[in-house]
Amino acid sequence: MKKVLVATDKPFAKVAVDGIRQIVEKAGYELILLEKYTEQSDFVKAIENVDAVIIRSDIADRAVIEAGKNLKIIVRAGAGYDNIDLAAATEHKVVAMNTPGQNSNAVAELAIGMMVYMARSCFNGSSGTELKGKTLGIHAYGNVGKYVAAIAKGFGMEIFAYDPFVSSESIEKDGVKPLTSVEELYSKCQYISLHIPANAQTKKSIGFDLLSKMPKGATLVNTARKEVIDEDGLLKIFAERPDFKYLSDIEPDCKAEFAEKYAGRFFFTPKKMGAQTSEANVNAGLAAARQIVDFLENGVTTFQVNK
Ligand code: 3PG
Repeated sequence: MKKVLVATDKPFAKVAVDGIRQIVEKAGYELILLEKYTEQSDFVKAIENVDAVIIRSDIADRAVIEAGKNLKIIVRAGAGYDNIDLAAATEHKVVAMNTPGQNSNAVAELAIGMMVYMARSCFNGSSGTELKGKTLGIHAYGNVGKYVAAIAKGFGMEIFAYDPFVSSESIEKDGVKPLTSVEELYSKCQYISLHIPANAQTKKSIGFDLLSKMPKGATLVNTARKEVIDEDGLLKIFAERPDFKYLSDIEPDCKAEFAEKYAGRFFFTPKKMGAQTSEANVNAGLAAARQIVDFLENGVTTFQVNK
C-alpha cells in the first residue's frame, strides 16, 4: 500500500485534512500525518517509508529528500517552492510540484487587510487615511498580484504593475497600468505590494535605492518572502523617512529594532498567515492530494517545477 505523508509544521484546517484523507484513501493509499513537529529530524524520520509528501513552508532539503528512500513526489501545497531543494529532488528522481493559484485570494485579502489596518492607524482611535485615490504598485503580476488588483479596484485605488514575464496587454485587460521598469513603479506608487518569489535573483533585491524612490507617505507591503528585502536598506529608509511604513506577513530578522524604534509604523504577523484560511487550506491541500494521485496512477506531471 502506498503511503502519503502530510508534513505541516503549520497544520491545515481540519476540513482540509479530512478532504486530503478522503482523496488519498479513495486511491487505496495510507495517509500519515505529521503536524506541529518541533524538530526537523521528526520530518526526516517520518519521510523514510513514504511514496509521496505534501508540505507547506516545511523545509524539504537534501537531508529530507535523501531520507525518503521510496519518495517519488513532493507537493508544496501553495505557490512558493523556495523551501524545496530542487537539485536534490531532480538528482533523486523525485518530482516536485506546487499548486499555483490555490491560496492566492487568501494572501491578497491579507495584503489589503494590512493596508487598511495601517491606513487607519492600527485601529487605535486616531484619525487615519483612506486607500481610495492612492497609487498602488503591484510588483510581480502573478496569481496573488491579480487578486490584489481586483480587490484594490473596489477600494478606488489607482493601480500599476511591473512584471517582465507578463504581457502589457493582459495587465491592461484588468484595468491595471503596466510599467516597464521597477524604478518607475516605486517612483509612482504610495503603496507597493510585493509578489516576487525568493530566488538567487530576488533575494535582498528590495533595498534603500528602490525604496527611497517611493513618494511621501509610502507603505511597503510584503506578503511574499522576508528574504527579498535588504533589511539594512529598509532600516536606513526608516531612519531617514518618518513617513515610511512596512507591513509584512512574517517578522523580519531585525524585528527587535523595529519594536524598539518604530512603533506605529509597522505590522508583522507572528507566523506566516497569508494562506492560513480554511478555504485556502482546502483549495491547496486537496489540489496537492489530487496531483499526487494523478501522478502515481497516471504519471501526470502538470505543475512539476523541477523539469
Ligand atoms: C505560498 O507560497 O503559497 C505562501 O507563502 C503560503 O505558505 P504557507 O502554506 O506556509 O502558509
